[in-house]
Amino acid sequence: MNLKPVASDRLPELLRLMPKAELHIHIEGSLEPELIFALAKRNGVALPYANVEALRSAYAFTNLQSFLDIYYAGASVLLTEQDFYDMARAYFLKAAADHVVHAELFFDPQTHTARGVGMETVVKGLHRACVDAQELGISAALIMCFLRHLSEEEAFETLEQALPYRDLIIGVGLDSGEVGNPPEKFARVFARCRELGLHLVAHAGEEGPPEYIWTALDLLKVERIDHGVQAAKDSALMQRLAKDRVALTVCPLSNLKLCVFPDLAQHNLRQLLDAGLAATVNSDDPAYFGGYMNDNFTQTFAATGMDAQHAYTLARNSFEAGFTSEAEKRSQIEGLDACFESFR
Ligand code: HPA
Ligand code: ZN
Repeated sequence: MNLKPVASDRLPELLRLMPKAELHIHIEGSLEPELIFALAKRNGVALPYANVEALRSAYAFTNLQSFLDIYYAGASVLLTEQDFYDMARAYFLKAAADHVVHAELFFDPQTHTARGVGMETVVKGLHRACVDAQELGISAALIMCFLRHLSEEEAFETLEQALPYRDLIIGVGLDSGEVGNPPEKFARVFARCRELGLHLVAHAGEEGPPEYIWTALDLLKVERIDHGVQAAKDSALMQRLAKDRVALTVCPLSNLKLCVFPDLAQHNLRQLLDAGLAATVNSDDPAYFGGYMNDNFTQTFAATGMDAQHAYTLARNSFEAGFTSEAEKRSQIEGLDACFESFR
């Protein structure tokens, strides 16, 4: 598409208006402190924080693990199907306001089944919110993540529990503490998921080394890499990712808050795009990292000096990388083109 030049002071408006897909959002990471306290009250769950302000002031992270400890504690208020629905509904309302038209939601069943909350409760609540998101103009789907700090056996048990809901899940992912938990531990579970026709993704190269990206691709056979920013340390890997158009679901504000980059100006999103990689922008855990989709776009563009061409490429990449049909992709990209054509 032939892009008209866009004045830099108009770029934030274009970034906010353009239709986009979100491919890396942990739905438990969209639980705002206010909702955590409301659900704690509704369910009679005690929290180790006096109030919303005290909880929010604990959101000063130094690395991934320091975040995960608080994130798993926050999820402890989720008990009923309605809780999961309400959490996802709140996310979809924010996403719609940010002109997200397609979203693929990660969820962590093991965080809930370990507390005695059934797989059925989790999946049905989230699925109902995905169905209702259509009225907001959002197509949505669920990706079930295995916690990589747990065992292969526990991942297989989780997969078994999910089989009755196979049709409500489009794929599986791998998340939680990366360093010391390389992808190969889950090669057999992922092979089984592949036989079941599930799409495959994995977090790799967030804090962990480029080797974890290689093994996610070659052993797990994933179709997208979540984060992947450490790929820039390995030029052969950069060439592989560019050649195969492997999408990276990059999360700039997450990387900033978890100290992967010292500031946004030093984030390598622009470098990844300029090297021809199919990078996308995503929010990861927006309630914890201080921003939803449009915050990620506007803050990262302001810090790195990216332009309207980068904006178009990022949104287009997000549609091309979605687990959607060719017809859906075509229609999403037509919507994107129409937005850029009419913007003045
Ligand atoms: N990385 C790994 N696991 C996670 C993340 C993340 O950014 N967010 C929620 N679980
Ligand atoms: Zn993530």
